[in-house]
Amino acid sequence: MIPAEADYARAVELLRAGELVALPTETVYGLGADAANPAAVAKIFAAKGRPADHPLIVHIAGHDAVDHWAEQVPDVAWELMETFWPGPLTLILKKQAWVPDAVTGGQDTVGLRVPGHPVALELLRRFAAVAGEHAGIAAPSANRFGRISPTTAAHVAEELGERVPLILDGGACKVGIESTIVDCSRGEPVVLRPGHISPVHLEAVLGRQPAIATSKGAPRVSGSLEAHYAPQTPMRLVARERLLDFLNAQRHKGDVCGVISPNQPPQAGMPHHWRMLPAEPVGYAHDLYAALRDLDHARLSLIAVEALPEDPSWAAVSDRLRRAAAGAGQG
Ligand code: TXA
Ligand code: MG
Repeated sequence: MIPAEADYARAVELLRAGELVALPTETVYGLGADAANPAAVAKIFAAKGRPADHPLIVHIAGHDAVDHWAEQVPDVAWELMETFWPGPLTLILKKQAWVPDAVTGGQDTVGLRVPGHPVALELLRRFAAVAGEHAGIAAPSANRFGRISPTTAAHVAEELGERVPLILDGGACKVGIESTIVDCSRGEPVVLRPGHISPVHLEAVLGRQPAIATSKGAPRVSGSLEAHYAPQTPMRLVARERLLDFLNAQRHKGDVCGVISPNQPPQAGMPHHWRMLPAEPVGYAHDLYAALRDLDHARLSLIAVEALPEDPSWAAVSDRLRRAAAGAGQG
């Protein structure tokens, strides 16, 4: 799916005018604004219903723009960029003094990422061609605050409707969960949010296992709030060996559940809406948010999600499931 020439032109015009544009990235869709324009960035918070002290990621077209936004960039950050950009990795770096508080939530750091999606990159290049070669687009996930991140243009329209004047359609997002965030602003790199780029990938570059932030004492990251990425239907994580009993008990109560599982239904004839997702983490991540969103629309009493293996390769999706369960049912 490639936007027409006229869509790119309109997108650049809107960004220049301080308006919002939703754009595809390889992780999830973003809600973008000119990152150097505080009034434009304020519109992102209004459209999402997000607290204004939550910092945003600035998307840039390439490594050349890094020094415009960040200072004292450590060697280790350059090495991570070399390996993983364009791609699903956000680096937290000391910000340049000029970077608006609206973007950083008043912190002394800025999150930077070169997205690995041709439409996002094309838009960033065209925007930089008119707004200055290092221009950036601030963009959180294009969902209402606390809700499931959108992985298609239709999801964005469903979340934000009239609140966003233009949605560039780049098809379904390849990765399907938000970028890995690594804080390189205070010495040793620390993983703030797990993602497709795993500690094993990072270790290959760093030469040692990266530290993983615990929620206590971590910097403000809305992706690190306990309740996040949540459907409006209540949601429960259920261990595989308990799932059948759990579902039978629900049926006896007369409740119809949605089920998300990497396995086939254990029994024929169950009334529940069964969503089987790929039994490996990459495919599972790709399909997860769309499946949650579908089940959320099905007017079910509960979404039961089969808990995933403890193996580190599942850590990023398990993280999203845990947070979704914590925030579910509040709509
Ligand atoms: O994959 C992604 O990262 C997507 C796409 C659109 O790029 N964006 C995304 O944005 O997930 P958002 O705002 O939903 O999550 C970005 C996270 C937030 O949890 C925010 O708090 C954190 O990045 N963040 C941004 N700047 C930060 C900073 N200076 N220090 C700590 N955390 C920061
Ligand atoms: Mg988000």
